[in-house]
Amino acid sequence: MRVFITGITGPVGSFLADHLLTIPGLELHVFKRWRSDPRPIEHLIGRVTIHEGDLEDAFAVDTAVRTAAPHRVFHLAAQSYPSASWQAPVLTMRANVEGTLNLLEALRRHAPHARIHLAGTSAQYGTVHPDSVPIREDHPMRPGSPYGVSKVAMELSGLQYHDNFGMHVLVTRSFNHVGPRQGDRCSIQTFCRQMAEIEAGRQPPILHVGNLEPRRDFTHTRDVARALWLLLEHGNPGEVYNLCSGRATRIGDIVDLVVARGRVPVEVRQDPARLRPSDEPILQGDNSKLCAATGWQPTISMEEIVEEVLDYWRAQLSCR
Ligand SMILES: NC(=O)c1ccc[n+]([C@@H]2O[C@H](COP(=O)([O-])OP(=O)(O)OC[C@H]3O[C@@H](n4cnc5c(N)ncnc54)[C@H](OP(=O)(O)O)[C@@H]3O)[C@@H](O)[C@H]2O)c1
Repeated sequence: MRVFITGITGPVGSFLADHLLTIPGLELHVFKRWRSDPRPIEHLIGRVTIHEGDLEDAFAVDTAVRTAAPHRVFHLAAQSYPSASWQAPVLTMRANVEGTLNLLEALRRHAPHARIHLAGTSAQYGTVHPDSVPIREDHPMRPGSPYGVSKVAMELSGLQYHDNFGMHVLVTRSFNHVGPRQGDRCSIQTFCRQMAEIEAGRQPPILHVGNLEPRRDFTHTRDVARALWLLLEHGNPGEVYNLCSGRATRIGDIVDLVVARGRVPVEVRQDPARLRPSDEPILQGDNSKLCAATGWQPTISMEEIVEEVLDYWRAQLSCR
């Protein structure tokens, strides 16, 4: 069976590749930009076929899909930063909507029977009243960023290809993924990176934090990779599934876990620059549809996530 992954240099793509390479008889094809940082996929060289191109280049996407002739497709490539989408709304739309249409068109031409997964996001829901959590898939979508809007358009495009052309397309709406191989933009990463910097003597022993009260739904990227594979095998085409742990953890409790696992004592200090104009008090998904379809359950606890991410940043800093 041939599997095609876009967005291979992101953490979800590289963990998914690691998971798929444990499955016998599977041939992996991956799509990356010419200018992508190759380091996240150095360990895959020689074990996967790399197709180079940009999602916005319809010809390159068509060539890659025709050559790979995949049976399974995981479409993870995206401009995936909500904050960046405010500075680059048009680029976000091009990458996430036009890029997805280029892929769907290529698949319609060359691999119409492939099973296709599209990676959506909880940002499609926008602000949700605390009475509506855990958020179910039938909650109305009212995204609050160009990124969220682009993913709504991506999702609806995919469902339209299912409805009109009978293609096997399903969509996940992911809540926060976290693990190694990620940048330091999300809260857990910034806390663990700072702790590693402090341990290495590169930063005074003060852990700068923002609002500690919001509660967020985190899933380890390795658990996410397992869920994606199970869902494309067992999920129903034309359906949308939340991908989340179903648990909400208070950000302050994560800070406590980081402090408890640090090798040196630190003072936790709130930094006004890290406070946002507004923060949803709680974002928690309902994963019962995904679990019922696949039997999947998240297995990696928040304690394990913090330990692994801390070790990741210690290793990153020791390389510099
Ligand atoms: N991580 C999360 O918490 C989370 C939550 C909800 C949804 N998601 C969704 O899940 C997917 C994977 O997440 P991630 O965290 O692994 O994403 P990521 O780290 O932002 O990686 C995005 C990937 O897309 C590639 N890409 C971006 N624009 C492209 C283009 N025009 N042509 C070809 N490739 C392009 C990037 O390549 P370069 O290396 O060249 O930049 C990279 O490989 C994304 O679709 C994201 O929106 C993630």
